[in-house]
Amino acid sequence: MIRVLFVCLGNICRSPMAEAVFLDMVKRAGLDHIIQADSAGLGDWHEGELAHRGTRDVLQRNYIPYNGRARQILSADLRKFDYVVAMDRSNLSGIRRLMDPGTTAEVTMFLEFANNAGLIDTEEVPDPYYGGSEGFNYVLDLLMDACSGLLDQLEAEQTPYSTK
Ligand code: 4NP
Repeated sequence: MIRVLFVCLGNICRSPMAEAVFLDMVKRAGLDHIIQADSAGLGDWHEGELAHRGTRDVLQRNYIPYNGRARQILSADLRKFDYVVAMDRSNLSGIRRLMDPGTTAEVTMFLEFANNAGLIDTEEVPDPYYGGSEGFNYVLDLLMDACSGLLDQLEAEQTPYSTK
């Protein structure tokens, strides 16, 4: 089993959108028995809440299901998950502060997986929290690209597939 954790600040806008998009792609690829995903936030302000209305709307418009609830990242997540991917540099620093000698996860910036890496002129997924729906649409485009790149990489690394 391969486990991926998407991380942002509040776990209500970017990382739940990434989780939903990625799980949808994994399911369509018939790999949901091999790849699991979850999301978490560095902060605990929205613990237990549904995703932000903007995230739920853009997912719904694209027929991507999601009904997860926000949670805060734990140090234990850095042992439990194989890949922990940060939406921006500040998230990456926050994750690194939680790392301890038991950390086994590969911790990376999410847009490193974007297929259009050379074309996308940002390393960071911008926070759409304070903006309108265009921000959420733009984030969805970035996340779609990086999710497909991540899935390609996992498929390439895991052939032949292990069911452990
Ligand atoms: P996210 O967006 O990190 O993409 O979930 C944010 C959500 C909430 C807050 C900040 C960013 N906040 O300050 O409450």
